[in-house]
Amino acid sequence: MVSCPHRISGVSRSAPVVPAAALLTLALALTLTLVSCTEGADVGSRGSAGLGDPYFPKLGNGGYDVTHYGLTLQYEPPSGIGNDDRLRGTAVVTARATRALDAFNLDLKGMDVESVAVGDAAARWSRAGQELTVTPAHGIDEGERFRTTVRYAGAPETITDPDGSREGWLPTADGVLALGEPTGSMTWFPGNHHPSDKAAYDITVTVPEPLRAVSNGELRSESAKNGRTTYAWHTAEPMASYVATLAIGTYEIRHSGGGGTAGSDGLPVYVAVDPTQAEKSRAVLGRIPEVIEWAEAGFGPYPFSSTGAIVDRPEDVAYALETQNRPVFPGAPDILLLVHELAHQWYGDSVTPKTWRDMWLNEGFATYAEWLWQEDHGGHTAQEIFDALYAGDYYEDAASNAAVWDFPPAKPPSAARISDSPVYQRGAMVLHKIREAVGDDAFLGLLRGWATDRRHGNADTADFTAYAERYAQKTAPDADLTPVWGDWLYGEGKPPEA
Ligand code: TRP
Ligand code: ZN
Repeated sequence: MVSCPHRISGVSRSAPVVPAAALLTLALALTLTLVSCTEGADVGSRGSAGLGDPYFPKLGNGGYDVTHYGLTLQYEPPSGIGNDDRLRGTAVVTARATRALDAFNLDLKGMDVESVAVGDAAARWSRAGQELTVTPAHGIDEGERFRTTVRYAGAPETITDPDGSREGWLPTADGVLALGEPTGSMTWFPGNHHPSDKAAYDITVTVPEPLRAVSNGELRSESAKNGRTTYAWHTAEPMASYVATLAIGTYEIRHSGGGGTAGSDGLPVYVAVDPTQAEKSRAVLGRIPEVIEWAEAGFGPYPFSSTGAIVDRPEDVAYALETQNRPVFPGAPDILLLVHELAHQWYGDSVTPKTWRDMWLNEGFATYAEWLWQEDHGGHTAQEIFDALYAGDYYEDAASNAAVWDFPPAKPPSAARISDSPVYQRGAMVLHKIREAVGDDAFLGLLRGWATDRRHGNADTADFTAYAERYAQKTAPDADLTPVWGDWLYGEGKPPEA
């Protein structure tokens, strides 16, 4: 109802300058507007300022679904002189309204907004914390596709997560690395920063020489002009914003085009490594095609159009992240970390959690991939790793062994604990219990089937248990998964010996 006066005034404002025939049309439109107003419904609604995530309720926004981000960014290194606009950006966010909208929100933390337009018309906007509220000149209809253009500039922020880790815009010795799990992507571009709204991306970045810019997807073009280089990165497959990345710095680049040395199937590989890490990284990153091939045999076809890795040295950050296409490592990885991050391309990047509570669907699976890799390469079997964790002699210290049982994988007690060992190790143990119940062949089929069924989509824990039940019904009808869910996935404390 709020929108009705707004729409009527819009009509009367333009009325005096239009001819009679158009006036008639306008009068008709006005009548229709009034009719739909009296019918109530969603007319005049505002998109919500969050999606009610159990741990990050303000993250994301309701009322629309983003289909594409077009980011055009310019980076300036810290110079000590002049203004400190490290980043200037134009974000063109294309979305479909899921209800009629008089106003909607984008997430953007920090930065100065210079202008906002919806379609070709300037829009009003206001800011409160991470919420950028946009009021377009004209209401948006349910189902309408609309384009929001935000011009912004500033020095992007670094975020400290509830668990104390740093993300967002992370300085390096020679540039910057942008990482976004779970919320940091809103420091460098405005958008719907919840994992449930995935979209295609075009990220075009201009940096001064000799710096390079590396991002997700494929490098469409690289062009130099006036001492600056512009890199255009294209991501066609849906991507959650938390796995979007931007790495700016000096890098040793190794890449193979579409057709050669990449994988057996010619998947393009693009690897960017900080020069201080290049020698240490070379051998392990040379194994990317081998890992992809192994993972494809287990999990099904690789879900994206290219792969690779980024190795950089962000200050005060020691974690790796499964950024889409090419994971980021804070130094030369070992083979298991490489396996973990590449496995996330299936479990996390392609099949993405619906909320941050479903984190074990990422980490339990990527951890189990490490177990399978070891089993397949003459190391410990998954059973041995499971047994060591269960017996409490996996880690060297008692506290770490006990921490595995702190909470059920599907129910982390707070945002600060979504990346703790119950999510990783006990999450992987859930999968091992499924394997025990259904047998090896059905289990491997299930892992692959899940990645196929939900490819490029989103899923939550209930989706997974329902899928596993259905799959087990067909392939191992005698299996009883009830205790796996009750004791291992949702149950408090260490489950009893079977
Ligand atoms: N997802 C990363 C991995 O397992 C780890 C990680 C990095 C993380 N940042 C995070 C997990 C923030 C949860 C929240 O490789
Ligand atoms: Zn992980």
